Amino acid sequence: MHPIFQTEPTPSATPILFVTKSSWDAVRADLPEAAQRFATASGYSGKPGQYLALPTADGEIGHVLFGLDEPGAKSHDPFRPGALPGLLPAGVYRFANAPHDVRLAALAFALGAYKFGRYRKAEPPAVRLVPPDGVDAAAISRAAEAAALARDLINTPSNDMGPAELADAADALATRFGASISVIVGDELATQNFPLIRAVGMASTRAPRLIDLTWGDPSHPKVTLVGKGVCFDTGGLDLKPSSAMLIMKKDMGGAANVLALASMIMDAGLKLRLRVLIPAVENSVAGNAMRPLDIFPSRKGPTVEIGNTDAEGRLVLADALAYADEEAPDLLIDLGTLTGAARVALGPDLPPYYTNDETLALDVARHASAENDPLWRMPLWGPYDSWLDSKVANINNAPSGGFAGSITCALFLQRFVEAAKSWLHVDIYGWTPKAKPGRPEGGECQAARAIFVLLSERYG
Ligand code: BES
Ligand code: MN
Ligand code: ZN
Repeated sequence: MHPIFQTEPTPSATPILFVTKSSWDAVRADLPEAAQRFATASGYSGKPGQYLALPTADGEIGHVLFGLDEPGAKSHDPFRPGALPGLLPAGVYRFANAPHDVRLAALAFALGAYKFGRYRKAEPPAVRLVPPDGVDAAAISRAAEAAALARDLINTPSNDMGPAELADAADALATRFGASISVIVGDELATQNFPLIRAVGMASTRAPRLIDLTWGDPSHPKVTLVGKGVCFDTGGLDLKPSSAMLIMKKDMGGAANVLALASMIMDAGLKLRLRVLIPAVENSVAGNAMRPLDIFPSRKGPTVEIGNTDAEGRLVLADALAYADEEAPDLLIDLGTLTGAARVALGPDLPPYYTNDETLALDVARHASAENDPLWRMPLWGPYDSWLDSKVANINNAPSGGFAGSITCALFLQRFVEAAKSWLHVDIYGWTPKAKPGRPEGGECQAARAIFVLLSERYG
């Protein structure tokens, strides 16, 4: 169980009363008179996000008030209760009435309690919640713990989260759930035909590697997850300016999120054969770095011209996707922090997803919305595919012009997927630039929860 949840019976738990501006008068009428006067004197009106602790006659906290949006409001955020762990004094709390969506409110509470504690003495979680009646606290715990894993991996700075440490994290997960794992390291990538993973990773003193984890009954449907594991993205010789490089420790956000998703899948014991492939590299600058207009073969065969060394994520994913595709999985899913263009189009909180499988597209949209793990479909727009043509090789990794950058990246990856029955690509941001309820600033779990629920529905 997640440490935020208080599972022992606690009759003394402080009640949290959810209100809206329109319900506030009725809620106030049921409060003890002194509390009513205190709320009025404090100017409490039940505005969204408004918080007030009401004293008892002896000066203890008797109730906590918390404002929600009116149902149906444009600003409606089902994660608003995720602000509570940051507002409440230490203690044990319970929901005294039902917020709009009690499951998402409890999830937001758990997600909002996250703190990155690796480099500072962590205080034990001081706020605890009695799991509300009727919600599956174990399922919420699983999702919150997976999110904490993804956030911790992303938030860990690159000096402590290189390709080897990312492999260690996958190894720890494999041990915990009895999965098998193998890792192809350094020059072995050349002998085993992963030319693009090697080309991207070779300029770093920290050897590139391909992490390959498998779990589950081999006779079950094959679901393969591929995550971009660029442990730091300097841009390579097409060096990023410092402002753009600043948060590039997050460029392994795809890997972090496939590990989070894998942990939920294995923890829940879904009936599928899971495989996780993570090309883990550092995109560095050195004398042996790949150069603009270099040409490399790819695992699948087509030669790739390097239009821009900063379009490295699609290169490492191309080899990993081609490898995944060789066993024709039933469902192939890749996540990666691939383009700034995705953020320009949809912002940091709404990653675009791509698939030609219409059923899958609808399922993703439905679960993304139900889980408040928002995703937005964008097209694999065929007419733009020719933009990837190179004059001297089979394909260029960075079409000039820069239009539709997230789409052309998806089209690049599509060239390496052929046999998989179904393919889903998500261009995540993996980072919350400014804290919001349930979403502390920093590394973020994106797409993993929506996809997990989709997989549970199909293979539960
Ligand atoms: N890791 C970046 C994408 C990125 C940048 C994600 C900023 C989030 C915020 C990726 O490797 C990259 O640099 N992409 C280039 C591609 C371009 C050179 C075709 C980009 O988006 O500028
Ligand atoms: Mn890059
Ligand atoms: Zn990158």
